[in-house]
Amino acid sequence: MRALFVRVVVAVTSWRAVRWLFTRTRIGRRVALRFVAGEALDDAVRVARGLNDAGMSVSLDHLGEHVTDAASATAARDAYLACLDRIAADGLDANISVKLTQLGLGLDEGLCADNLQALARRAADLGLTVTIDMEESNHTGATLRLYETVGRVHGNLGVAIQAYLHRTPADLDHIIPLGGHIRLCKGAYDEGVAVALQSRVDIDSAYDRLLGRLMEASETMPAVATHDGARIARALDLAVMRAGPFEFQMLFGVRTRLQQELVEAGHPMRVYLPYGDSWYPYLTRRLAERPANVWFFVRALFGR
Ligand code: FDA
Repeated sequence: MRALFVRVVVAVTSWRAVRWLFTRTRIGRRVALRFVAGEALDDAVRVARGLNDAGMSVSLDHLGEHVTDAASATAARDAYLACLDRIAADGLDANISVKLTQLGLGLDEGLCADNLQALARRAADLGLTVTIDMEESNHTGATLRLYETVGRVHGNLGVAIQAYLHRTPADLDHIIPLGGHIRLCKGAYDEGVAVALQSRVDIDSAYDRLLGRLMEASETMPAVATHDGARIARALDLAVMRAGPFEFQMLFGVRTRLQQELVEAGHPMRVYLPYGDSWYPYLTRRLAERPANVWFFVRALFGR
């Protein structure tokens, strides 16, 4: 059921008329703003400041992915460099989250490595960290390779792993000893049965197993990236036995009351905060995660 829903939403949102509705109308943009800070860095800084004031740290995502030329990859790198400088100048409690296909991974792994190096170096100079998002499964191998090689040089990288991928337990064996921060999420892309678990129950069980391993690993800093109450309860149980730090991570605009409750209970919370004008693919993934989000859009369309 989950896989079918994701497939339908991905197909429908790729229609030109639907894209137009979202990106060119006031209603579409209003729906987007539920999940995105705004289009400018100033918007992101303003929202991040508010989240910091509410006791949450932030991971800033300058939206964009799958660039098709080197100049766009360089522009994305420069936007992130500006973002890092601004985090430091404004004294925000924040890091950045980057997608490697935005830094040129789909074009040339060397170009992407250079761009990632530049971000890791600037972040290290400023005492900040960089988390690498995980994208479609055809990029998983290269993403982990760059995480390892660039991370070894600068020591300030983290990476997301996806519980739904069959390969993730083996990947975890390899990356836990590297010692960075590891964000465990369920996985947001439309993946086939050969590479990924399909049912919610199977994905949740895989998440719990991986969470258990991460919370036992003292050499890494786990980030529990989910809005799922049962997974969060399990993390809280495991945290009692954990010697080192860990944090919860949630997406901006999703389960905000729960975010606040966890902070009030004394748990570290980092909010993933996207900004920029390339927000459409991000929005479609958020719609695909939850049928209610599609109804939210339909209701907004009819003014209810
Ligand atoms: P699940 O989908 O089971 O949702 C549990 C409950 O949370 C729902 O019942 C609903 O109440 C609420 N909820 C979940 N999603 C919602 C939404 N969009 N809108 C409103 N309510 C919602 N994926 C990936 O492939 N690569 C990555 O790098 C990342 N990075 C990442 C960072 C952070 C901080 C988070 C929280 C998530 C990601 N993801 C991701 C996305 C992740 O893989 C997954 O698609 C979503 O988090 C939804 O799964 P949940 O774990 O929240 O559970």
